[in-house]
Order: sequence, then C-alpha cells, then structure tokens
Amino acid sequence: MENTYAQQLFSMIQSSPTSFHAVRSICRRLEQEGFQELLERDAWNLSPGGRYYLTRNQSSVLAFAVPQGNYENFQIVASHSDSPTFKLKEHAAMGVNGHYTMLNTERYGGMLYSTWLDRPLSIAGRVMVRRQDGISSQLIQFDRDLVLIPNLAIHMNRAANEGVAMNPQVDLLPLFGDERAKDSLCQLVAEECSVQPQEIVGSDLYLYNRCAPSIWGANREYLSCPQLDDLECVFASLEAFLSSQPSRSIKVCAVFDNEEVGSSTKQGAASTFLYDTLQRVNWSLGGTMEDYHRAVASSFMVSADNAHAQHPNHPEKTDSTNCVYLNEGVVVKHNANQKYTTDGVSAAVFQSLCERASVPVQHFANRSDIPGGSTLGNLSTLQVPMNTVDIGLAQLAMHSSYETAGVKDLEYLVRALREFYSSTVTMVSDGSCRIEKQQPQA
Ligand code: CO
Repeated sequence: MENTYAQQLFSMIQSSPTSFHAVRSICRRLEQEGFQELLERDAWNLSPGGRYYLTRNQSSVLAFAVPQGNYENFQIVASHSDSPTFKLKEHAAMGVNGHYTMLNTERYGGMLYSTWLDRPLSIAGRVMVRRQDGISSQLIQFDRDLVLIPNLAIHMNRAANEGVAMNPQVDLLPLFGDERAKDSLCQLVAEECSVQPQEIVGSDLYLYNRCAPSIWGANREYLSCPQLDDLECVFASLEAFLSSQPSRSIKVCAVFDNEEVGSSTKQGAASTFLYDTLQRVNWSLGGTMEDYHRAVASSFMVSADNAHAQHPNHPEKTDSTNCVYLNEGVVVKHNANQKYTTDGVSAAVFQSLCERASVPVQHFANRSDIPGGSTLGNLSTLQVPMNTVDIGLAQLAMHSSYETAGVKDLEYLVRALREFYSSTVTMVSDGSCRIEKQQPQA
C-alpha cells in the first residue's frame, strides 16, 4: 500500500510540472470519479448528494461533495498547487557572443538556487492561442530534456565551496542551445500546440526539474521527487476525499495556487475563491445567510502543507523538544504568533482524528530564534473564519528542486485525512466539538 501511494504520487507529480498541470490532473481524476464541473460564470443548480468541482485561473480548484439530506457544516482540507521555480520572461531568448542562446527568466517563489544547477530541466506551462472567435488556452509540457543551468567550474571560482552568492539575473539563466536556437522557442512552443508561431498570443511558461522520482534508503524508507511541497499534501487530500465515507458535512478539497508568492492573487488562498464558493453552495441548496454563518461557525479546516524534518547534519537548526522526523507520523505545526493557525482546540480535534485512524502524530515548532515560514491556513481563514489546524508531512530540503520525505508518512496522511472526511466534526459551542461517524451501511 505504502509503495502504491508513492507510485501514484510520482505519476501525478510527473504530469504536474506547473500549477496548471496539477489542477488539470486533479480535474481529470474528479471527472473519472463522476464529479460535475461548474463554471463560476454560470448559474448553479446543486442538489443533495451531488459532487462538483470548479477552477479559477486554471491553477486553483475546489472540489466538494454534498451529503444527502440537510448538511451540518463544511469540512475542508486546503493545500497548494504551486512550487518555487523560474518563469520565462516575455522575450526570453538571449544570445551570448554569437555562440549560445540563454533564456531570460525570473524567480517564482523562494527556491534553493544551487539545486537547479547541472541537471536536466525542461519547460511547461500555459499557452494562449488565437482562434477565429477569440483566444483559447492550451497546456504544454516538453517531455524531453530541453535546458540546463551550468555551474561555473571550481577552477573559475576557487571559493565555490565556501559558499557562493548567486545572482538570478547572472548565474541562474538556463542554456537553451547554440546561436541557432535564438528563434527556436516560439517554433517549438507552436509545434507543441500544433499551431503556427504567429497564432501564439501569450504564455505562462516555467522551468521544471526532469529528475526521475526515487524510493531509496537501506529499507526503501525515503522518497525523493520534485514539488513534494505541496503536491504530496495535494495528492493525499484528494485520495482521502475520494475514498471517504458519507458524513453530514459538505466536504471540500481545496487546492490553491500562489502560496509560494503570498497567496494574494484572485485564485490564491487569500482570495474570495473559497468564500464565494461556500456562499453559493449554501445559497444554491436553499440556505439563508444565517444558515451560512451557522455552518461556518461549526466548520473545520485542515491546512495541509509540508513541514521541516530535523536535518541529519544540522540537528541544531530545529527545536529541541518539538522537532519531527521522516516516517514518524503526521505533523501538527504550532506557532505562538499564529503564523500557523493551530491552537489548543484545533490541535486536539486533529489529534483525536489521528488516534481514531491509528495514525501517529508529531508536533513541530520552530526554534524561538528562527522565524520559519507561514502557510495558507491563516490567509484563508481571514475570508472564511473557522477552526483550523496547520499540519503537513515531515520533509527534508524544502524548496530544493528535488525534495525528500518518508514513504510511510504518505499513507499516514491519507488515513488521517480520510478519517477527517469520514467524520462529522461539529463545533457545538465555542471551544467544544463533537466528532461523529456514521456506521457504514451493511
Ligand atoms: Co508549501
């Protein structure tokens, strides 16, 4: 089972080099499972028992399942579709001394630069194509090694092993070919779209790492792959969502773009996407404004984004009593200043669910002298205020182009989130909750 999940995760990641592709992978899976697509611009006619999904910007997706009968509340797992990478600039091709063609790029998010050097990379993204009656978008993924960012030889920088400052405009531009490659990009993109170059009117193109995923270690206990942050949580939440038992909640599987750049876009976790959708779901099911507020007040959200495992070479970087390890369970993240949404109440709810699913739990806090990152949880709850817990899986080398996690943990997360989706978690009063599970029908 553990390995099956890992293999499924790998195949999802390999077909999800950008957030557009990740959302397309999710939508395809939802279609296979019989979910019905909604458009934000259409009128919605939802019914009890219905299963739906909608996207925004092709890079964020909300899938939800409505129970039969009256619904109690919303139960949401939120994760993110984007990962740090490099975006191609509009005029990307740049000649160097008549011998090389480089591509001009800029950073998307905060990555570990060195992990992008000396490895096969390629290009993927969204291309806008002119049509008779307007414009349509097409996703492309070059399925071959296409570019590479070469390191500077040690002989040309003797201080390279003492730490190197890298300038993204100088040191991190990918090599695309010799001087003949100057006009090739548009041609290749057009071929990939099966159109003429002049029909391409816009694009959002990114680099992606071509390194194959791997399961390794003395006992095959580790897995490594690009984009584990946060496609590992995306995969686990979708898997749990689709395999859960009926409950009295409207279950929502939310995947947002742009977490790596602050979430403040029309499709990010700080946007109105979730709020708008929950409002309309309630409305379409015949609920009043009061019904909506009552439902939100008794709802629960799990914000799922990976966590830092203790580094084997640098144990001093993690807190001495709140550090976490690979393969030792789902991580609950705590922060006194509420960079994580977890509090005593939400941690207790999540921990109880894990107990019921026999899933081990670990607790994470940053060292008090290391600020650490934040997640999409607290941004999302500004729009839709509900009890929320920040969780994730322990991983190494976060924001490397090739990250490492534990094989066992993936199954733990699927089981914990399935327990959440299969239960009705109702906040019965401020600070108290009831966790119920329907008996499976014989
Ligand atoms: Co993340």
